[in-house]
Amino acid sequence: MTDRVVPSVTVRAAAKINLHLGVGGPREDGFHPLETVYTTVGLYDDVVAAAAADWSLALEAAAYVDAAGVPLDESNIVAAAARALADLHGRPVVADVTIVKGIPVAGGLAGGSADAAAALVALDRLLDLQTPDDDLVRLAADLGSDVPFALHGGHALGTGRGEVVTPLPAGDLALWWVVVPSTSGGLSTPAVYRHYDVLVPEASSVPASAAPVVEALAAGDVEALAAALHNDLQAPAVDLRPDLGELIALGEASGALRGLVSGSGPTVVFLCAGADEARALAGVLQADGRTALVANGPVAGAHVVHGI
Ligand code: C5P
Repeated sequence: MTDRVVPSVTVRAAAKINLHLGVGGPREDGFHPLETVYTTVGLYDDVVAAAAADWSLALEAAAYVDAAGVPLDESNIVAAAARALADLHGRPVVADVTIVKGIPVAGGLAGGSADAAAALVALDRLLDLQTPDDDLVRLAADLGSDVPFALHGGHALGTGRGEVVTPLPAGDLALWWVVVPSTSGGLSTPAVYRHYDVLVPEASSVPASAAPVVEALAAGDVEALAAALHNDLQAPAVDLRPDLGELIALGEASGALRGLVSGSGPTVVFLCAGADEARALAGVLQADGRTALVANGPVAGAHVVHGI
């Protein structure tokens, strides 16, 4: 008897960093209008979907990822992605799905959004659903504000609540980052937005313009980009977690061009002049007892790395 190979598809999706995150005062639906510049960075989650008669969800995590808080029931965003595809196509969407996590959890790097985007693509391919691109992007936006960008990758402008994504040219500037995940718990994205509302009660409905970051990217000038990096959620994140401010100061005193809270935090990212500078800074931070990951970008959005 020969073993039959179970068909499977593996899709890889990257972490995101907001080079610019302008946040306006809350809309009537509670979401905040954004003007953001997303970029991808080479830390990845893989979603492996294998043919099966029923649904199952499992998780494996890299040594530096604390995935203890990730639920594996219907509340996982990957299960929500499967339900969204099932509703759209009016058919069951089941598979044995494994999430392989290389993106720190609850860190402002949109790891859950990467999983959702990867799951949409993996299940679509495995089950040959042939979902049109426009529908995939619409389902992605319903799953979360950052999910459409996780499909696109590269650099992109995000507007609306972040879900309206306009690609920006990739250019030829490689950005070298040191990514420092928090070892003392995550920060909840809604809590950071609520704290922003407390700190900035009169925020304009028009978020801060991303033009300086877009111009620095177009010029391919990493120092101008470092000077232009902007995150309106940094002040509330640092107010909730003062240790993040100390970490940013340490990195900037140790060779980074700029340190920045990533999205709603608590991951802190440092933009460096190049690969050597990033490795040197990671060494300093590791010697200080921290997890510090060197990664570069921009990289591709959700894409198939193994099929059938
Ligand atoms: O869309 P997503 O599920 O990522 O949003 C998580 C939470 O973050 C929202 O429920 C909301 O509290 C907050 N949020 C916001 N404004 C945005 C995006 C997210 O207030 N533009």
